[in-house]
Amino acid sequence: MPAKQLSRWTMAWFGAALLFLLLSLTLALGGAVGPSDWSRGVGLAGVHLFTLGWLCLAMLGALIQFVPVLAARPPVLPVLALPALLAGIGGTVALATGFLWLDGHEAVRGAFLVAPVLLAVAFGLAAAMIVPLLLVRASHKLAEVQLALVALAALWASGAAMTYNLSGIDLMPAFLPDGLGLHVLLGVAGWLSLAAFGVSYTLFAMFLLAPEGGAALRLAVRLAAGLTLGLILLAGMLLLVQGVVPAVLLWCLTALLPAVVALYLAEVARIWRLRRRADPEGNMRWSRVALAFLGLAALLAGPALWLGGRWAEAAIFVALVGWLSLLTLAQMVKIVSFLTWIQVFAPLIGRAPVPLVHHLTDPRATTRWLSLWGGGGAVGGLALLLVQPLVFRLSVAALLLAALGLGAELVAIRRLSHLDPQKRPATLPPVIFPAPDKRSAHDHARTA
Ligand code: HEM
Repeated sequence: MPAKQLSRWTMAWFGAALLFLLLSLTLALGGAVGPSDWSRGVGLAGVHLFTLGWLCLAMLGALIQFVPVLAARPPVLPVLALPALLAGIGGTVALATGFLWLDGHEAVRGAFLVAPVLLAVAFGLAAAMIVPLLLVRASHKLAEVQLALVALAALWASGAAMTYNLSGIDLMPAFLPDGLGLHVLLGVAGWLSLAAFGVSYTLFAMFLLAPEGGAALRLAVRLAAGLTLGLILLAGMLLLVQGVVPAVLLWCLTALLPAVVALYLAEVARIWRLRRRADPEGNMRWSRVALAFLGLAALLAGPALWLGGRWAEAAIFVALVGWLSLLTLAQMVKIVSFLTWIQVFAPLIGRAPVPLVHHLTDPRATTRWLSLWGGGGAVGGLALLLVQPLVFRLSVAALLLAALGLGAELVAIRRLSHLDPQKRPATLPPVIFPAPDKRSAHDHARTA
Protein backbone atom coordinates (compact mmCIF):
# COMPACT_ATOMS: atom_id res chain seq x y z
CA MET A 1 0.00 0.00 0.00
CA PRO A 2 1.64 3.33 -1.01
CA ALA A 3 2.21 5.64 1.98
CA LYS A 4 0.46 8.49 0.16
CA GLN A 5 -2.82 6.54 0.40
CA LEU A 6 -2.72 6.34 4.19
CA SER A 7 -5.47 8.06 6.09
CA ARG A 8 -3.98 10.22 8.84
CA TRP A 9 -6.85 9.63 11.23
CA THR A 10 -7.19 5.82 11.19
CA MET A 11 -5.49 5.41 14.60
CA ALA A 12 -7.84 8.04 16.06
CA TRP A 13 -10.91 6.18 14.69
CA PHE A 14 -9.58 2.90 16.11
CA GLY A 15 -8.58 4.52 19.42
CA ALA A 16 -12.02 6.06 19.92
CA ALA A 17 -13.66 2.76 18.97
CA LEU A 18 -11.58 0.86 21.54
CA LEU A 19 -12.44 3.35 24.28
CA PHE A 20 -16.15 2.85 23.52
CA LEU A 21 -15.59 -0.91 23.62
CA LEU A 22 -14.06 -0.69 27.09
CA LEU A 23 -16.82 1.65 28.27
CA SER A 24 -19.64 -0.57 27.00
CA LEU A 25 -18.12 -3.71 28.54
CA THR A 26 -17.59 -1.91 31.85
CA LEU A 27 -21.28 -0.90 31.84
CA ALA A 28 -22.26 -4.50 31.05
CA LEU A 29 -20.05 -5.81 33.84
CA GLY A 30 -21.72 -3.34 36.18
CA GLY A 31 -25.07 -4.99 35.40
CA ALA A 32 -26.46 -2.64 32.73
CA VAL A 33 -27.46 -5.61 30.55
CA GLY A 34 -28.04 -9.31 31.06
CA PRO A 35 -30.28 -12.15 29.91
CA SER A 36 -33.82 -10.79 29.25
CA ASP A 37 -32.66 -7.37 30.47
CA TRP A 38 -31.77 -5.10 27.55
CA SER A 39 -34.46 -2.47 27.37
CA ARG A 40 -33.69 -0.25 30.36
CA GLY A 41 -32.18 3.09 29.39
CA VAL A 42 -28.77 2.16 30.78
CA GLY A 43 -28.89 -1.16 28.89
CA LEU A 44 -29.74 0.57 25.60
CA ALA A 45 -26.89 2.99 26.31
CA GLY A 46 -24.51 0.04 26.70
CA VAL A 47 -25.82 -1.63 23.53
CA HIS A 48 -25.25 1.54 21.48
CA LEU A 49 -21.84 2.33 22.98
CA PHE A 50 -20.92 -1.13 21.69
CA THR A 51 -22.67 -1.06 18.30
CA LEU A 52 -22.22 2.59 17.33
CA GLY A 53 -19.16 3.53 19.37
CA TRP A 54 -17.09 0.38 18.96
CA LEU A 55 -18.25 -1.40 15.81
CA CYS A 56 -19.48 1.53 13.65
CA LEU A 57 -16.48 3.75 14.36
CA ALA A 58 -14.03 0.90 13.75
CA MET A 59 -15.83 0.00 10.51
CA LEU A 60 -16.03 3.59 9.23
CA GLY A 61 -12.34 4.17 10.10
CA ALA A 62 -11.40 0.99 8.22
CA LEU A 63 -13.54 1.93 5.19
CA ILE A 64 -12.03 5.43 5.02
CA GLN A 65 -8.59 3.77 5.07
CA PHE A 66 -9.22 0.88 2.71
CA VAL A 67 -11.85 1.90 0.15
CA PRO A 68 -9.36 4.16 -1.72
CA VAL A 69 -6.88 1.27 -1.76
CA LEU A 70 -9.46 -1.29 -2.87
CA ALA A 71 -10.87 1.04 -5.54
CA ALA A 72 -7.29 1.93 -6.62
CA ARG A 73 -8.12 5.64 -6.53
CA PRO A 74 -6.72 8.57 -4.51
CA PRO A 75 -8.69 9.42 -1.35
CA VAL A 76 -11.59 11.86 -1.73
CA LEU A 77 -12.04 14.81 0.65
CA PRO A 78 -9.64 13.42 3.31
CA VAL A 79 -10.09 16.64 5.24
CA LEU A 80 -13.54 15.35 6.33
CA ALA A 81 -12.12 12.41 8.29
CA LEU A 82 -11.65 14.36 11.54
CA PRO A 83 -15.03 16.17 11.54
CA ALA A 84 -16.76 12.87 10.73
CA LEU A 85 -14.99 11.20 13.65
CA LEU A 86 -15.85 14.02 16.05
CA ALA A 87 -19.50 13.95 14.99
CA GLY A 88 -19.53 10.14 15.38
CA ILE A 89 -18.10 10.37 18.89
CA GLY A 90 -20.49 13.20 19.79
CA GLY A 91 -23.51 11.38 18.35
CA THR A 92 -22.70 8.14 20.17
CA VAL A 93 -22.14 9.90 23.49
CA ALA A 94 -25.34 11.93 23.02
CA LEU A 95 -27.43 8.85 22.16
CA ALA A 96 -26.01 6.80 25.04
CA THR A 97 -26.55 9.67 27.49
CA GLY A 98 -29.98 10.36 26.04
CA PHE A 99 -31.09 6.78 26.67
CA LEU A 100 -30.74 7.52 30.41
CA TRP A 101 -33.73 9.80 29.96
CA LEU A 102 -35.79 6.58 29.66
CA ASP A 103 -34.69 5.75 33.23
CA GLY A 104 -36.10 9.07 34.47
CA HIS A 105 -33.09 11.43 34.11
CA GLU A 106 -34.99 14.44 32.72
CA ALA A 107 -31.89 16.60 32.23
CA VAL A 108 -30.54 14.48 29.36
CA ARG A 109 -33.59 14.65 27.06
CA GLY A 110 -31.83 17.28 24.93
CA ALA A 111 -28.96 14.87 24.26
CA PHE A 112 -31.48 12.27 23.02
CA LEU A 113 -32.96 14.77 20.56
CA VAL A 114 -29.62 15.97 19.21
CA ALA A 115 -28.03 12.51 18.83
CA PRO A 116 -29.65 11.55 15.48
CA VAL A 117 -28.56 14.89 14.01
CA LEU A 118 -24.92 14.39 15.04
CA LEU A 119 -24.98 10.80 13.77
CA ALA A 120 -26.44 11.98 10.44
CA VAL A 121 -23.54 14.45 10.15
CA ALA A 122 -21.01 11.69 10.94
CA PHE A 123 -22.48 9.19 8.48
CA GLY A 124 -22.99 11.87 5.82
CA LEU A 125 -19.39 13.12 6.01
CA ALA A 126 -18.01 9.58 5.95
CA ALA A 127 -20.26 8.75 2.98
CA ALA A 128 -18.99 11.84 1.13
CA MET A 129 -15.49 10.34 1.38
CA ILE A 130 -16.47 6.78 0.49
CA VAL A 131 -19.37 6.92 -1.99
CA PRO A 132 -17.55 8.68 -4.89
CA LEU A 133 -14.96 5.89 -4.78
CA LEU A 134 -17.68 3.23 -4.85
CA LEU A 135 -19.21 4.71 -7.99
CA VAL A 136 -16.11 4.25 -10.18
CA ARG A 137 -16.21 1.26 -12.50
CA ALA A 138 -13.35 -0.64 -10.87
CA SER A 139 -15.17 -0.68 -7.58
CA HIS A 140 -17.73 -3.31 -8.59
CA LYS A 141 -15.47 -5.34 -6.30
CA LEU A 142 -16.94 -3.30 -3.46
CA ALA A 143 -20.60 -3.93 -4.27
CA GLU A 144 -21.30 -5.29 -0.79
CA VAL A 145 -19.99 -2.03 0.69
CA GLN A 146 -22.45 -0.13 -1.54
CA LEU A 147 -25.29 -2.27 -0.15
CA ALA A 148 -23.95 -1.76 3.37
CA LEU A 149 -24.15 2.02 3.01
CA VAL A 150 -27.78 1.76 1.85
CA ALA A 151 -28.44 -0.29 4.99
CA LEU A 152 -26.63 2.34 7.09
CA ALA A 153 -28.95 5.06 5.76
CA ALA A 154 -32.01 2.93 6.57
CA LEU A 155 -30.57 2.02 9.97
CA TRP A 156 -30.14 5.68 10.78
CA ALA A 157 -33.71 6.44 9.62
CA SER A 158 -35.16 3.65 11.77
CA GLY A 159 -33.04 4.66 14.80
CA ALA A 160 -33.90 8.36 14.42
CA ALA A 161 -37.60 7.54 14.05
CA MET A 162 -37.55 5.45 17.23
CA THR A 163 -35.58 8.12 19.11
CA TYR A 164 -38.12 10.83 18.25
CA ASN A 165 -40.94 8.34 18.74
CA LEU A 166 -39.77 7.68 22.31
CA SER A 167 -39.40 11.45 22.86
CA GLY A 168 -43.05 11.95 21.97
CA ILE A 169 -42.41 13.25 18.44
CA ASP A 170 -44.22 10.66 16.31
CA LEU A 171 -42.43 10.65 12.98
CA MET A 172 -43.26 7.01 12.28
CA PRO A 173 -45.76 5.89 14.92
CA ALA A 174 -45.96 2.32 13.70
CA PHE A 175 -42.24 1.68 14.00
CA LEU A 176 -42.13 0.99 17.73
CA PRO A 177 -42.15 -1.69 19.04
CA ASP A 178 -42.59 -3.82 15.90
CA GLY A 179 -39.83 -2.13 13.91
CA LEU A 180 -37.17 -2.94 16.50
CA GLY A 181 -36.31 -6.28 14.86
CA LEU A 182 -35.87 -4.60 11.46
CA HIS A 183 -33.67 -1.92 13.08
CA VAL A 184 -31.42 -4.63 14.52
CA LEU A 185 -31.35 -6.55 11.22
CA LEU A 186 -30.37 -3.39 9.34
CA GLY A 187 -27.56 -2.71 11.81
CA VAL A 188 -26.12 -6.19 12.34
CA ALA A 189 -26.84 -8.00 9.07
CA GLY A 190 -27.20 -5.07 6.68
CA TRP A 191 -24.68 -2.42 7.57
CA LEU A 192 -21.97 -4.10 9.66
CA SER A 193 -21.91 -7.60 8.16
CA LEU A 194 -22.16 -6.53 4.51
CA ALA A 195 -19.40 -3.94 4.98
CA ALA A 196 -17.27 -6.67 6.58
CA PHE A 197 -18.01 -9.01 3.63
CA GLY A 198 -17.05 -6.36 1.07
CA VAL A 199 -13.71 -5.46 2.65
CA SER A 200 -12.78 -9.00 3.70
CA TYR A 201 -12.56 -10.55 0.22
CA THR A 202 -9.63 -8.37 -0.80
CA LEU A 203 -7.98 -8.26 2.62
CA PHE A 204 -8.21 -12.05 3.07
CA ALA A 205 -6.79 -12.64 -0.43
CA MET A 206 -3.99 -10.16 0.34
CA PHE A 207 -3.08 -11.65 3.74
CA LEU A 208 -3.30 -15.26 2.48
CA LEU A 209 -1.47 -14.54 -0.81
CA ALA A 210 -4.41 -15.97 -2.76
CA PRO A 211 -5.98 -14.91 -6.06
CA GLU A 212 -9.30 -13.07 -5.61
CA GLY A 213 -11.21 -14.51 -8.59
CA GLY A 214 -14.41 -16.34 -7.71
CA ALA A 215 -16.62 -14.07 -9.84
CA ALA A 216 -19.61 -16.45 -9.93
CA LEU A 217 -19.76 -17.01 -6.17
CA ARG A 218 -19.24 -13.32 -5.44
CA LEU A 219 -22.06 -12.43 -7.82
CA ALA A 220 -24.29 -14.94 -6.04
CA VAL A 221 -23.44 -13.38 -2.63
CA ARG A 222 -24.13 -9.91 -4.01
CA LEU A 223 -27.50 -10.90 -5.53
CA ALA A 224 -28.65 -12.80 -2.46
CA ALA A 225 -27.50 -9.99 -0.15
CA GLY A 226 -29.19 -7.36 -2.34
CA LEU A 227 -32.43 -9.35 -2.32
CA THR A 228 -32.26 -9.79 1.47
CA LEU A 229 -31.68 -6.09 2.05
CA GLY A 230 -34.49 -5.27 -0.40
CA LEU A 231 -36.87 -7.50 1.58
CA ILE A 232 -35.86 -5.92 4.90
CA LEU A 233 -36.54 -2.46 3.43
CA LEU A 234 -39.86 -3.69 1.99
CA ALA A 235 -40.79 -5.10 5.40
CA GLY A 236 -40.04 -1.69 6.94
CA MET A 237 -42.20 0.10 4.39
CA LEU A 238 -45.10 -2.34 4.84
CA LEU A 239 -44.82 -1.89 8.58
CA LEU A 240 -45.16 1.86 8.16
CA VAL A 241 -48.02 1.68 5.66
CA GLN A 242 -50.01 -1.33 6.87
CA GLY A 243 -48.75 -1.62 10.45
CA VAL A 244 -47.75 -5.28 9.95
CA VAL A 245 -45.00 -7.34 8.30
CA PRO A 246 -46.55 -10.21 6.27
CA ALA A 247 -45.44 -13.67 7.45
CA VAL A 248 -44.30 -14.56 3.94
CA LEU A 249 -41.61 -11.89 4.18
CA LEU A 250 -40.37 -13.36 7.44
CA TRP A 251 -40.22 -16.81 5.83
CA CYS A 252 -38.20 -15.40 2.93
CA LEU A 253 -35.76 -13.73 5.36
CA THR A 254 -35.52 -16.94 7.39
CA ALA A 255 -34.33 -18.74 4.26
CA LEU A 256 -32.23 -15.95 2.78
CA LEU A 257 -30.11 -14.92 5.79
CA PRO A 258 -28.40 -18.32 6.18
CA ALA A 259 -28.17 -18.65 2.39
CA VAL A 260 -26.21 -15.38 2.04
CA VAL A 261 -23.88 -16.45 4.85
CA ALA A 262 -23.39 -19.91 3.30
CA LEU A 263 -22.48 -18.38 -0.08
CA TYR A 264 -20.07 -15.91 1.54
CA LEU A 265 -18.42 -18.67 3.59
CA ALA A 266 -18.07 -20.78 0.43
CA GLU A 267 -16.27 -17.89 -1.27
CA VAL A 268 -13.93 -17.38 1.71
CA ALA A 269 -13.26 -21.14 1.82
CA ARG A 270 -12.31 -20.95 -1.87
CA ILE A 271 -9.83 -18.13 -1.15
CA TRP A 272 -8.46 -20.12 1.80
CA ARG A 273 -7.94 -23.25 -0.34
CA LEU A 274 -6.07 -21.32 -3.04
CA ARG A 275 -3.73 -19.52 -0.61
CA ARG A 276 0.00 -19.58 -1.25
CA ARG A 277 0.82 -18.79 2.40
CA ALA A 278 1.04 -22.28 3.91
CA ASP A 279 0.93 -21.10 7.53
CA PRO A 280 -1.55 -18.19 7.86
CA GLU A 281 -0.76 -15.51 10.43
CA GLY A 282 -2.75 -15.05 13.65
CA ASN A 283 -5.08 -12.42 12.20
CA MET A 284 -6.32 -14.92 9.61
CA ARG A 285 -6.49 -17.88 12.00
CA TRP A 286 -8.69 -15.81 14.34
CA SER A 287 -10.73 -14.47 11.44
CA ARG A 288 -11.55 -18.10 10.72
CA VAL A 289 -12.93 -18.46 14.24
CA ALA A 290 -14.95 -15.28 13.65
CA LEU A 291 -16.34 -16.90 10.49
CA ALA A 292 -17.43 -19.91 12.56
CA PHE A 293 -19.34 -17.50 14.84
CA LEU A 294 -20.93 -16.01 11.70
CA GLY A 295 -22.12 -19.49 10.72
CA LEU A 296 -23.53 -19.98 14.22
CA ALA A 297 -25.33 -16.62 14.11
CA ALA A 298 -26.85 -17.60 10.75
CA LEU A 299 -28.14 -20.85 12.26
CA LEU A 300 -29.69 -18.90 15.13
CA ALA A 301 -31.30 -16.35 12.77
CA GLY A 302 -34.42 -18.46 12.09
CA PRO A 303 -35.30 -19.14 15.75
CA ALA A 304 -34.43 -15.50 16.52
CA LEU A 305 -36.87 -14.20 13.88
CA TRP A 306 -39.73 -16.48 14.90
CA LEU A 307 -39.25 -16.99 18.63
CA GLY A 308 -37.47 -13.75 19.63
CA GLY A 309 -36.57 -13.58 23.34
CA ARG A 310 -33.46 -15.47 24.40
CA TRP A 311 -32.97 -16.81 20.85
CA ALA A 312 -32.77 -13.28 19.49
CA GLU A 313 -30.48 -12.17 22.32
CA ALA A 314 -28.10 -15.08 21.70
CA ALA A 315 -28.13 -14.57 17.91
CA ILE A 316 -27.41 -10.83 18.19
CA PHE A 317 -24.70 -11.39 20.81
CA VAL A 318 -22.98 -14.10 18.77
CA ALA A 319 -23.09 -11.86 15.67
CA LEU A 320 -21.87 -8.70 17.44
CA VAL A 321 -19.29 -10.23 19.78
CA GLY A 322 -18.22 -13.48 18.11
CA TRP A 323 -18.40 -12.55 14.44
CA LEU A 324 -18.00 -8.78 14.01
CA SER A 325 -15.86 -7.94 17.06
CA LEU A 326 -13.50 -10.91 16.82
CA LEU A 327 -12.98 -10.19 13.12
CA THR A 328 -12.38 -6.50 13.85
CA LEU A 329 -9.98 -7.15 16.74
CA ALA A 330 -7.98 -9.78 14.84
CA GLN A 331 -7.65 -7.59 11.76
CA MET A 332 -7.00 -4.45 13.83
CA VAL A 333 -3.80 -5.97 15.22
CA LYS A 334 -2.61 -6.65 11.67
CA ILE A 335 -3.76 -3.32 10.26
CA VAL A 336 -2.18 -1.28 13.06
CA SER A 337 1.15 -3.10 12.74
CA PHE A 338 1.02 -2.78 8.94
CA LEU A 339 0.21 0.96 8.99
CA THR A 340 2.83 1.59 11.68
CA TRP A 341 5.43 -0.24 9.60
CA ILE A 342 4.55 1.80 6.51
CA GLN A 343 4.63 5.03 8.49
CA VAL A 344 7.97 4.35 10.22
CA PHE A 345 9.98 1.98 8.08
CA ALA A 346 8.78 2.30 4.48
CA PRO A 347 10.72 5.58 4.03
CA LEU A 348 13.89 3.79 5.20
CA ILE A 349 13.78 0.99 2.63
CA GLY A 350 17.05 0.90 0.70
CA ARG A 351 18.68 3.30 3.16
CA ALA A 352 18.80 1.20 6.33
CA PRO A 353 17.90 -2.34 7.47
CA VAL A 354 14.19 -2.54 8.25
CA PRO A 355 12.31 -5.12 10.37
CA LEU A 356 9.46 -7.26 9.01
CA VAL A 357 5.87 -6.22 9.81
CA HIS A 358 5.31 -9.15 12.17
CA HIS A 359 8.38 -8.19 14.21
CA LEU A 360 6.26 -5.29 15.49
CA THR A 361 3.80 -7.68 17.17
CA ASP A 362 3.85 -10.26 19.96
CA PRO A 363 1.94 -13.21 18.46
CA ARG A 364 1.70 -15.02 21.80
CA ALA A 365 0.06 -12.06 23.56
CA THR A 366 -2.31 -11.53 20.61
CA THR A 367 -3.28 -15.21 20.63
CA ARG A 368 -3.83 -15.14 24.39
CA TRP A 369 -6.21 -12.16 24.26
CA LEU A 370 -8.04 -13.24 21.10
CA SER A 371 -8.65 -16.70 22.52
CA LEU A 372 -9.99 -15.13 25.72
CA TRP A 373 -12.28 -12.95 23.57
CA GLY A 374 -13.45 -15.96 21.55
CA GLY A 375 -14.09 -17.98 24.73
CA GLY A 376 -15.97 -15.06 26.31
CA GLY A 377 -18.11 -14.72 23.19
CA ALA A 378 -18.99 -18.42 23.11
CA VAL A 379 -19.80 -18.62 26.84
CA GLY A 380 -21.75 -15.33 26.76
CA GLY A 381 -23.91 -16.53 23.84
CA LEU A 382 -24.65 -19.78 25.65
CA ALA A 383 -25.43 -17.95 28.90
CA LEU A 384 -28.00 -15.80 27.07
CA LEU A 385 -29.58 -18.86 25.48
CA LEU A 386 -29.79 -20.67 28.83
CA VAL A 387 -30.71 -17.47 30.72
CA GLN A 388 -27.77 -17.63 33.16
CA PRO A 389 -27.09 -14.06 34.40
CA LEU A 390 -24.05 -14.95 36.53
CA VAL A 391 -22.32 -16.88 33.74
CA PHE A 392 -23.13 -14.01 31.38
CA ARG A 393 -21.47 -11.56 33.80
CA LEU A 394 -18.38 -13.80 33.97
CA SER A 395 -18.19 -13.90 30.18
CA VAL A 396 -18.35 -10.09 30.08
CA ALA A 397 -15.45 -9.98 32.58
CA ALA A 398 -13.44 -12.20 30.22
CA LEU A 399 -14.32 -9.95 27.26
CA LEU A 400 -13.27 -6.85 29.19
CA LEU A 401 -9.96 -8.42 30.19
CA ALA A 402 -9.33 -9.48 26.58
CA ALA A 403 -10.17 -5.99 25.30
CA LEU A 404 -7.78 -4.42 27.83
CA GLY A 405 -5.04 -6.87 26.81
CA LEU A 406 -5.55 -6.19 23.10
CA GLY A 407 -5.66 -2.44 23.72
CA ALA A 408 -2.31 -2.67 25.53
CA GLU A 409 -0.93 -4.77 22.68
CA LEU A 410 -2.02 -2.16 20.10
CA VAL A 411 -0.31 0.59 22.11
CA ALA A 412 2.83 -1.59 22.30
CA ILE A 413 2.76 -1.99 18.50
CA ARG A 414 2.49 1.79 18.05
CA ARG A 415 5.36 2.33 20.53
CA LEU A 416 7.44 -0.33 18.67
CA SER A 417 7.90 -1.99 22.07
CA HIS A 418 8.42 -5.48 20.62
CA LEU A 419 11.42 -4.39 18.54
CA ASP A 420 15.00 -4.57 19.79
CA PRO A 421 15.82 -1.12 21.19
CA GLN A 422 18.64 -0.76 18.62
CA LYS A 423 16.16 -1.22 15.78
CA ARG A 424 13.80 1.48 17.02
CA PRO A 425 14.05 4.89 15.36
CA ALA A 426 14.88 7.88 17.53
CA THR A 427 11.39 9.36 17.12
CA LEU A 428 8.40 7.12 17.67
CA PRO A 429 5.09 7.74 15.86
CA PRO A 430 2.29 9.28 17.97
CA VAL A 431 0.04 6.53 19.35
CA ILE A 432 -3.27 8.00 18.19
CA PHE A 433 -2.99 11.43 16.58
CA PRO A 434 -1.17 12.10 13.32
CA ALA A 435 2.31 13.63 13.44
CA PRO A 436 1.68 17.35 13.98
CA ASP A 437 4.53 18.80 11.96
CA LYS A 438 3.56 17.95 8.41
CA ARG A 439 0.40 17.09 6.48
CA SER A 440 0.57 13.63 4.94
CA ALA A 441 0.47 13.09 1.23
CA HIS A 442 -3.10 11.83 1.80
CA ASP A 443 -4.29 15.33 2.62
CA HIS A 444 -2.60 16.69 -0.48
CA ALA A 445 -4.35 14.16 -2.71
CA ARG A 446 -7.23 16.41 -3.74
CA THR A 447 -6.00 19.77 -2.60
CA ALA A 448 -2.72 19.88 -4.55
C1 HEM B 1 -25.07 -0.65 14.01
C2 HEM B 1 -25.89 0.21 14.57
C3 HEM B 1 -26.98 -0.14 15.54
C4 HEM B 1 -27.29 -1.35 16.10
C5 HEM B 1 -26.63 -2.71 15.86
C6 HEM B 1 -28.41 -1.13 16.98
C7 HEM B 1 -28.97 -2.11 17.76
C8 HEM B 1 -30.05 -1.92 18.59
C9 HEM B 1 -30.61 -2.92 19.45
C10 HEM B 1 -30.06 -4.36 19.59
C11 HEM B 1 -31.67 -2.38 20.07
C12 HEM B 1 -32.66 -3.09 20.98
C13 HEM B 1 -32.29 -3.34 22.35
C14 HEM B 1 -33.49 -4.04 23.00
O1 HEM B 1 -33.55 -5.28 22.95
O2 HEM B 1 -34.37 -3.40 23.53
C15 HEM B 1 -31.79 -1.02 19.63
C16 HEM B 1 -32.74 -0.14 20.06
C17 HEM B 1 -32.75 1.19 19.71
N1 HEM B 1 -31.91 1.85 18.86
FE1 HEM B 1 -30.34 1.04 17.89
N2 HEM B 1 -28.77 0.19 16.92
C18 HEM B 1 -27.94 0.82 16.05
C19 HEM B 1 -27.97 2.14 15.68
C20 HEM B 1 -28.88 3.07 16.13
C21 HEM B 1 -28.94 4.44 15.72
C22 HEM B 1 -28.03 5.08 14.66
C23 HEM B 1 -29.96 5.02 16.42
C24 HEM B 1 -30.44 6.45 16.39
C25 HEM B 1 -30.21 7.32 15.45
C26 HEM B 1 -30.56 4.00 17.26
C27 HEM B 1 -31.64 4.17 18.09
C28 HEM B 1 -32.26 3.17 18.81
C29 HEM B 1 -33.40 3.38 19.69
C30 HEM B 1 -34.11 4.71 19.94
C31 HEM B 1 -33.71 2.14 20.26
C32 HEM B 1 -34.75 1.87 21.34
C33 HEM B 1 -36.04 1.32 20.89
C34 HEM B 1 -36.84 0.83 22.13
O3 HEM B 1 -36.61 -0.27 22.59
O4 HEM B 1 -37.65 1.58 22.61
N3 HEM B 1 -29.86 2.82 17.04
N4 HEM B 1 -30.79 -0.77 18.73
